[in-house]
Amino acid sequence: MKHIAVLNGDGIGPEIVAQAVKVLDKLIEQGLQVSYEYAKLGGEAYDAYGSPYPNETQEIVRKADAVLLGAVGSPQYDNLDRPLRPERGLLAIRKDLNLFANLRPAILYKELANASTLKPEVVAGLDILIVRELTGDIYFGEPRGIITNDKGEREGFNTMRYSESEIRRIAKVSFESAQKRNKKLCSVDKANVLETTELWRQIFNEVAKDYPDVELSHMYVDNCAMQLVKNPKQFDVVATGNIFGDILSDQASMLTGSIGMLPSASLDENGKGLYEPSHGSAPDIAGQNKANPLATILSLAMMLRYSLNDEVRAKQVEQAVQKVLEQGYRTADIYEDGTTLVGCADMGDKVVQAL
Ligand code: NAD
Ligand code: IPM
Ligand code: MN
Repeated sequence: MKHIAVLNGDGIGPEIVAQAVKVLDKLIEQGLQVSYEYAKLGGEAYDAYGSPYPNETQEIVRKADAVLLGAVGSPQYDNLDRPLRPERGLLAIRKDLNLFANLRPAILYKELANASTLKPEVVAGLDILIVRELTGDIYFGEPRGIITNDKGEREGFNTMRYSESEIRRIAKVSFESAQKRNKKLCSVDKANVLETTELWRQIFNEVAKDYPDVELSHMYVDNCAMQLVKNPKQFDVVATGNIFGDILSDQASMLTGSIGMLPSASLDENGKGLYEPSHGSAPDIAGQNKANPLATILSLAMMLRYSLNDEVRAKQVEQAVQKVLEQGYRTADIYEDGTTLVGCADMGDKVVQAL
């Protein structure tokens, strides 16, 4: 039987994870063969163990087949030493489990065409996949730090770097993802300025030779930010590095109506994955039963698809979300006139009922 580790995290984390767990419990009731247990990550782990990614958690997530996570981070931890901050816990678990491939699908459910801040005709039918490299780049590059320089001034520095093998493996995932979709891959870089991404572009061109059925294009990241707003439907799969992918995926989330709709899967080479919404811990609405749990529930669907090999149940969960939107239920972030405003917990209940 497959085993799942469940990590609430901070802020809205416990609220949104509770809704995904309701859905999971329902699936188990319907015959899904999985077990799960809770562990702590981020600020909640720091409070309990003095570390944002403690050994207790490491042990549980290493032996699990998949991990479900809410989000980490909260202002109360922002002045801790950097290694103790919640966000470091998230980076540590990604690195420890070798979760280098982050899939962030931006899909517009037709019921939400008016929830997007863009004109409905620009986003109607949108279905793009951002493939973000997750364990390299400026996020992890050494050297890094804040030093006092020769002039006696403080100086901060980070290093953007990618090895050939790191680029090659994310390129493969990107091409394979495109093969399963509309066979268009746009690799996003800043090769006109940064050597790291010049290498990125070279490797993508090399790997392309193994995927002749996929149409590869390249785009600079600044242009991509513009094109995502101008004409997002030109994209099928967008592949990019860690930091550009972080920024572009938040941007893409607004095409779907709200960042509360964007799930994600972070995968290793063997199908093990961590599943979390693309958004953060939303401290501004934490504890108020206002958060949209759908990105977390849709992340559970991705877990069923990628780590539990249960495409049928993955689709069932996605269709349940679709049905709830058809029925007109909306959390505050996607609310519009004529729909029914519900809280986070009610939204979870509605999805369970729709299953
Ligand atoms: P955020 O994504 O938490 O919030 C940005 C805005 O989106 C806020 O107005 C918030 O209320 C709203 N929002 C986010 N998720 C929502 C949801 N499910 N439903 C409704 N509204 C939602 O980003 P931030 O404010 O920049 O960061 C807050 C904290 O989260 C920081 O500590 C940051 O480091 C952390 N963070 C964590 C993750 C993660 O765990 N993967 C991702 C991003 C940010
Ligand atoms: C995300 C978040 C994280 C990132 C932070 C919290 C470390 O923004 O998952 O998108 O930058 O990767
Ligand atoms: Mn982010």
